[in-house]
Amino acid sequence: MKNNILVIGGTGKTGSRVAARLNKLDQNVRIGSRSNDPSFDWDDPSTYSEALKGMDRAYITYYPDLAVPGATEAINILTETALKAGLEKVVLLSGKGEKEAEACEEIVANSGLNYTLVRASWFNQNFSESFFLDPILAGHVALPMAEAEIPFVDADDIAEAVVKVLLDDSYNNKTFTITGPRNLTFREAIQEISNQSKRNIKFQEITLDDYTKSIKEAGVPGDYIWLIGYLFKEVLGNAENQTVSNDIEKVLGRKALDFSEFAKRTAQTGIWNRSVVESL
Ligand SMILES: NC(=O)c1ccc[n+]([C@@H]2O[C@H](COP(=O)([O-])OP(=O)(O)OC[C@H]3O[C@@H](n4cnc5c(N)ncnc54)[C@H](OP(=O)(O)O)[C@@H]3O)[C@@H](O)[C@H]2O)c1
Repeated sequence: MKNNILVIGGTGKTGSRVAARLNKLDQNVRIGSRSNDPSFDWDDPSTYSEALKGMDRAYITYYPDLAVPGATEAINILTETALKAGLEKVVLLSGKGEKEAEACEEIVANSGLNYTLVRASWFNQNFSESFFLDPILAGHVALPMAEAEIPFVDADDIAEAVVKVLLDDSYNNKTFTITGPRNLTFREAIQEISNQSKRNIKFQEITLDDYTKSIKEAGVPGDYIWLIGYLFKEVLGNAENQTVSNDIEKVLGRKALDFSEFAKRTAQTGIWNRSVVESL
């Protein structure tokens, strides 16, 4: 059956992969982002109804994070607007071990819409498409929480699971925790990337205070500095976040992609062998 599906954050790390998979399945996809027409902007609720008009289902990724002030209000308005627009179901991407995101999950669960919650661990693609890429290209990654055990998960696995639960109503009103198959520390992850890309990438453990000072000096805005501090301290420091889940196997009937395989495939694209300037 052909559905009209809004993919919010449809040009981002999981959204672009969800949109590509849905297009392959011949679904009608509308991207929800500031750069699309009609434009969708989380900071401007007047854009929500036009983006939701005529849609049957939606994949919701909130930017920058469900933990930031204002997220609950935005999710509340979005779900109320979606209900009025006649949507049947939404899938919300949330963060694993993120207590602050649970208020948004509850809003979705109590919205009157059918829903599935997908709580994901930190993505592998943070090393190839996001904030860790530039330090990797510079050959020097300095991070706090160097020994935290993190079950990094692949954005392609998240997207495959999201598409399955979005289209299949037997997953309605359930919560899934999506992780990779094993824990790695940042130090181990950078070592894997170093090996696969055949580059010498130095890893240095620094304090959270020094890290926030360095990103402040690099011009990162205040709100994001708070968020990054929260993600490192509260999310990575939370023992619950260090457990590996087998929900990917439950949904997809296969194992989640291992970080080594991600590193091998990504190294083959050459992305870790470019210069910092090329990545801008
Ligand atoms: N990264 C992780 O490791 C991780 C782990 C667990 C959960 N999550 C969750 O995943 C979600 C996405 O995070 P991400 O860092 O991976 O980002 P991302 O999905 O790569 O985000 C970029 C997307 O968001 C859109 N966007 C940015 N600002 C927007 C705005 N004001 N209004 C509408 N769309 C906007 C961008 O399109 P335009 O620029 O065109 O607007 C783009 O499509 C967050 O809720 C986060 O908590 C992330």
